[in-house]
Amino acid sequence: MQQEKLRELLADMSLPEKIGQLVQLSGEFFQSKDISYGPIQKLGISQEAIDLTGSVLNVTGAHATKQLQEQQMAKQPHHIPVLFMADVIYGFKTIFPIPLGLGATWDPELVQQAFRIAGNEAAASGNQVSFAPMVDVTHDPRWGRTLESPGEDALLNARMATAMVTGFQTDLAEKAGQVSCVKHFAAYGGVEAGREYNSADMSLSNLYQNYLPPYKAAVDAGCEMVMTSLSTLNGVPGTADKWLLQDVLKKQWGFDGVLISDYASVYELVKHGYATDDRDSALKALDAGLDIDMKSPVYANELQGLVEDGSLSEDRIDQACWRVLQLKNKLGLFEDPYFGTSEEAEKKINLTADKRALARKVAAESLVLLQNKNDILPLTGAEKVALIGPYADEKSLIGMWAVHGDPADCVTIKEALQEELGERLTYTRGTDISRDKEKLRGLGFLTDEMITQVVSDDETEQKHHDEALKNAQAADVVIYAVGEHSFEAGEAGSKTNLHLPDNQVNLLNDLHGLGKKIVLVNISGRPLVLSNVTDKTDAIIQAWFPGTEGGLAIADVILGKVSPSGRLSMTFPYTEGQEPLYYAHLSTGRPQDGSQHVGRFVSRYIDAPTAPLYAFGYGLSYAQVEYGKIKLEKDKLSANDTLKVSIELTNASNWQQKETVQVYFHDDAASIVQPVKRLIDFKKVVLAPHSKQIVTFAIPAMYFSFYDNQGESILEPGTFHLFVGANSQDVASATFEILDK
Ligand code: BGC
Repeated sequence: MQQEKLRELLADMSLPEKIGQLVQLSGEFFQSKDISYGPIQKLGISQEAIDLTGSVLNVTGAHATKQLQEQQMAKQPHHIPVLFMADVIYGFKTIFPIPLGLGATWDPELVQQAFRIAGNEAAASGNQVSFAPMVDVTHDPRWGRTLESPGEDALLNARMATAMVTGFQTDLAEKAGQVSCVKHFAAYGGVEAGREYNSADMSLSNLYQNYLPPYKAAVDAGCEMVMTSLSTLNGVPGTADKWLLQDVLKKQWGFDGVLISDYASVYELVKHGYATDDRDSALKALDAGLDIDMKSPVYANELQGLVEDGSLSEDRIDQACWRVLQLKNKLGLFEDPYFGTSEEAEKKINLTADKRALARKVAAESLVLLQNKNDILPLTGAEKVALIGPYADEKSLIGMWAVHGDPADCVTIKEALQEELGERLTYTRGTDISRDKEKLRGLGFLTDEMITQVVSDDETEQKHHDEALKNAQAADVVIYAVGEHSFEAGEAGSKTNLHLPDNQVNLLNDLHGLGKKIVLVNISGRPLVLSNVTDKTDAIIQAWFPGTEGGLAIADVILGKVSPSGRLSMTFPYTEGQEPLYYAHLSTGRPQDGSQHVGRFVSRYIDAPTAPLYAFGYGLSYAQVEYGKIKLEKDKLSANDTLKVSIELTNASNWQQKETVQVYFHDDAASIVQPVKRLIDFKKVVLAPHSKQIVTFAIPAMYFSFYDNQGESILEPGTFHLFVGANSQDVASATFEILDK
């Protein structure tokens, strides 16, 4: 529709119609199938408001969305199509690894391909907007939503944000793909103590440097929508933070798309103690710049009264409504309200062989080999293998936030290995994922009947245990697949105990007692504490929730079809008490190493190491790649110069290896103390067997700047350390200087 016509439409709409465009409800209001998580309560809004609703949450499927579109358009006086929005966080039907695993690929190009597929599958099923990417930087694995984030680093998350947004939005002009809605603005990942929906409090320097860059990267990549956070930042709820939404997002970054609240977060302004009642909430959120109120009664019930009594100018409603209409028009919904959705397309497009192949490739690249004593991996394929553990033949490999995917489509580890090993493979469950019924009940999704399927009776558990020992005894190698229940990670999955459950560790101890070689495969949505299993295992593969093709990818790594190349996107602690633990911390005046003090009076714990078990960026491969000396083209730069860095890699092995070269720096002295290391660039390169390669980086001097507490980026002259290596700990270093002029 031409802009002029769109303006005419807006001018002709009644106030309730315009407000309707600012309301989003879920399927239950339209008698449609709905898979929303969260408080499912009737909101106490009128039928008229429901009929005028401008967008619908988490209704999917060509048939359901087409029917609902027809129904809603018939009801609305101007027959305005609704927008269908959904959580397509890491796949729609073809499920890729959880974003923490996607971060571990360090391969934005691959991730972009994955998100293009996710958007195309979802669009064919009638969804035009994805509530993704979620790029909240997080330093605390107690927070369940670490599962949804690419990890702990601003730069890695920013590169992933660009890839994800671009992937989703590539095909929009062809009526495929989805509009991307980046979330949760802002700094939701900074919630205190990793407790869900808690508050974040931080300096502006920290916010600008460590938390905002990924959202900004998404905006720069053209994402059309932004979702606010459920949490407060420095005392102000994200949903009504005028400074964040107006000054930072709109003025500083030039965002002119649609802003949506998170689920009921406008309503929750009263609970936060930020608004006195719903009326006040509506006023504060709209005034801050929030366009759409997701799943709350507040805009629907309060905006009209606010305009009528003069507290809010109708012009403000018009501006918000205009942004929503613009988005619908950009997608061509006024001409084709179904946006290419069709039942035939839906059948053809989902889970095709090429999509599964990509999911397998991405999953294989997300796996991180944490330990490989005496090069026990890869197996030759000639060994007798005892596959044991609650995840050995488990289809639930997609994790909590793949809400449109089906575990039944997954290939299990057992199915994948059996194809290759045939009779040389034995299998037993060995033990349950959890034996703790109370804990499982507390997860909120499992009925008593489901819990009975998870937790075996004592007799069966004993049988599985005995069978596991028998199988292990007869085998050359044990593969032990363990981890956390999929509902333990994800939204509202915060927890304080990050160890593997006791029953899983007890069986490991017994298996270890047999003196067999043990390969542990860990399925989890967050870094777990693995310090109590490293000495009982020979190899450890961190497998996240690896997605539809996860079993095959794990088998590919175990059997050496690919050499693992995943590198941790989040630090693995030695113990929970170290959290939040992250590589880019500041130095203290009394660092444990290098302090003038000795003994007690240094920054450390008296009962645990200061260092992590596995550092950010860490991961092993089958090839041993050697890093040469760092070469700097010049080591004195002015602010307009570019630092040119090169390093020679040598792969002396028979393996083709994908290697992620990581570049960090430290500003030796600055007016705001800078992290001991900060990632500044990285490249994933392919090394042929027995080859050398020179990898180069060109880093503008301006990138070595930092943010002050007014949010200004400043570059201070002085000396810097540059670090290049395979992870944040094992690095070579060089120094350079940025000159005054
Ligand atoms: C989550 C969002 C999600 C929304 C809609 C909320 O509970 O925080 O990330 O997009 O629900 O499903």
